[in-house]
Amino acid sequence: MGFWNKIFGKSRPNPAEEKELLAAIDMNKLPMHIAIIMDGNGRWAARRGLPRAAGHRAGVESLRDIVKTCSSLGIKYLTVYAFSTENWKRPQEEVNILMDLLVEYLGKEMRELHQNNVKVRAIGRIEELPASAQKALSDAFELTGNNTGLTLTLALNYGGRLEIVEAVQKIAGEVLKGRLDLKAIDEKVVNEHLYTVGMPDPDLVIRPSGELRISNFLLWQMAYSELWYSPVLWPSFRKVHLLQAIIDFQKRQRRFGGL
Ligand code: FPP
Repeated sequence: MGFWNKIFGKSRPNPAEEKELLAAIDMNKLPMHIAIIMDGNGRWAARRGLPRAAGHRAGVESLRDIVKTCSSLGIKYLTVYAFSTENWKRPQEEVNILMDLLVEYLGKEMRELHQNNVKVRAIGRIEELPASAQKALSDAFELTGNNTGLTLTLALNYGGRLEIVEAVQKIAGEVLKGRLDLKAIDEKVVNEHLYTVGMPDPDLVIRPSGELRISNFLLWQMAYSELWYSPVLWPSFRKVHLLQAIIDFQKRQRRFGGL
C-alpha cells in the first residue's frame, strides 16, 4: 500500500472513473433527496493508528466532496446525520471535537456554500447545542436562507423517535386548544409537525462503513426510501461512491407498496 493510500484509503479523486460513472447516470431521474448516515470515522482512524479525532476531521473532507458533488449534479436535498441524540454518551472530549469541527466547517465553508447557492438547514434539538455551534448555524441560516440550489440539512442532536414524540406533543397541544380536530390528524398533519417540514422524503439513504442499521435516522421519512449500503468507511467515501449509489438507485423499481 502506498503512502497516500495508507492515509486516505480510496479517497483520492479518480477522474477517469468519475467520468465513466457520470456517463451512466440519467440526469432526468436523479433522486430529489439523498440522506447519508456518515459512519466509520472511528474505525478509519483506528486502522491507521490515528486518534478518533483524525477520523472525524477526515470525515469533514468527505462531507465537503459529497456536498460539492450533489450541488453540481443538481440534487435538490442532501441530509447528513452529523450528531445523534445518543452521541452525547461519547467521551466529553470527542463531543467537543465534533462540535468544534461543526463550527470550523461552517466557518470555512459558509461563503463557498453560499456562492454555490446552497441553503443550509438543520434538524434536531439545536437549542441544546453549545452556544458556539448555535451561533455558527444561525449565521449560516442567515447567509444562505434565500438560496435556491441544494438544501444541505445537518442532522444535529437528532433522533428520529424524539422527532416523532415532539410532533405528537405539538399535535396533541393543538387538539387540546381546540385548534385541530382529532379526526383531521392524517399523514400530512404529522409531516407538518416534523423537523423536516417542507422537505420531500429521502429517495435514497446511504450508509457507509458496512453497518446495516437505520440508527434512529429519519424514521418516519424513510418509509419508502431506497437503501444503499457500502463497506467504504465515511472518511474514504467520495464522489465515485455517490455516483455508484445513484446508478444503483436508478436501476431500482420503486413501487411504494403498489404493483
Ligand atoms: C460516526 O462515526 C460519525 C459521527 C458520529 C459523526 C459524523 C461527523 C462527521 C463526518 C464530521 C463532522 C461534520 C460536521 C459537519 C459536524 P463513528 O465515530 O461512529 O465511527 P465508528 O463507528 O467507526 O467508531
